Parts: sequence; C-alpha cells; structure tokens
Amino acid sequence: MEPINELEREYGETALLLLIAGLAVTPIRIWSGVNLIKYRRAIGLTTFFLVLAHFLVWVVLDVQSLGRVWEEVVKRPYVTVGMAAFVLLIPLAVTSNNLSIRKLGASGWRKLHRLTYPAVVLAGLHYLWLVKGFQIEPVIYLAVILSLLVMRFLRSRSRP
Ligand code: HEM
Repeated sequence: MEPINELEREYGETALLLLIAGLAVTPIRIWSGVNLIKYRRAIGLTTFFLVLAHFLVWVVLDVQSLGRVWEEVVKRPYVTVGMAAFVLLIPLAVTSNNLSIRKLGASGWRKLHRLTYPAVVLAGLHYLWLVKGFQIEPVIYLAVILSLLVMRFLRSRSRP
C-alpha cells in the first residue's frame, strides 16, 4: 500500500477504535468496576484530532483540490457518511472544556454528547461501505458499535 493511503487508513482505524473505547467506558465500569471516566475527555479529544488528521491527509495529500473534495463528498456515499460523522464530532470537541460544560449545564452537555451515538454509527457505516467485497473487520466493528448502543439504550430505559 502506498504511504499516504496507509497513513490515512491508520488514522481512520485508530479513530474508530477510540470512538468505540469512549462508548465502552460506562459498560466497563458497570461490569468490571474499573472506572476510566477521568480519561473519557482525553479519549474524545484524541479521537477528534485523529479524525481531523485523517480528513486532512485525505484533502491535502490525497485529493489535493478543494473542488474535488466537495465532488467526492457528494458522489461517494462512504465519504458522505464519514463527513457527516466528522461534522457531528465538531460541536463535541469545541465544548470539551470546563467553561463550555459550565455554560451548557450538566444536562445540556450530556444531551449534546448524545451526538456521539449517530457519529459512531456513521463512522462504522463509513468503514463498511468503503471496503471492496466482503471483509469481516468492518462487520465486527459495526456489531460492537450496535451492541454497545443497544446496551446503553436498554440501561437508560430500565432506570427510573
Ligand atoms: C468519525 C469520522 C471517521 C472515522 C472514524 C473514519 C474511519 C475510517 C476507517 C476505519 C477507514 C478504513 C481504514 C482501513 O481500511 O484500515 C477509513 C478510510 C477512509 N476514510 Fe474515514 N473516517 C472518518 C471520517 C472520514 C472523513 C471526514 C473523510 C473524508 C471526507 C474520510 C475519508 C476516508 C477515505 C477516503 C478512506 C479510504 C481510503 C482508501 O481508499 O483506502 N473519512 N476511515
């Protein structure tokens, strides 16, 4: 594989892993008692910057033309959903500081952070869509993502 593509893919895959890690923080606490909550903001911000790097490698080193970037976003569904996931992460990264958390209030901040759910599903679809032919890896990623979301949904319904 050529180096630019390899870098692009490395960033993408690590970002997806970290998105999932952020989602797994609460289930890990419930099941094992290990509390990683203090790392969640760092996980979230690192994810965002990896996605940004993934996007910039694609724009600057790969596509190399802003007109073509737009064309690709419109033309290729896997790029469209990747872009949508990225856009959803922007307000989360911008508000991941103490001042914004205070301004939004805990419940506002928590509501805004529900954007991670559509973002991670779109990211999983992005991966599934871009591979050619059948490959097991993106299917596993998407299955893990959906399982984590279903667990979260069931838990929030079972709480008063
Ligand atoms: C949350 C956002 C995103 C995540 C988690 C993500 C994740 C991934 C993953 C896991 C891969 C495949 C890596 C592999 O094959 O090992 C990938 C590839 C790719 N992504 Fe993303 N991505 C995101 C956003 C974007 C955005 C915004 C763009 C561009 C607008 C983009 C463009 C691409 C391209 C072009 C490839 C394929 C490169 C190739 O042809 O090999 N991604 N991404």
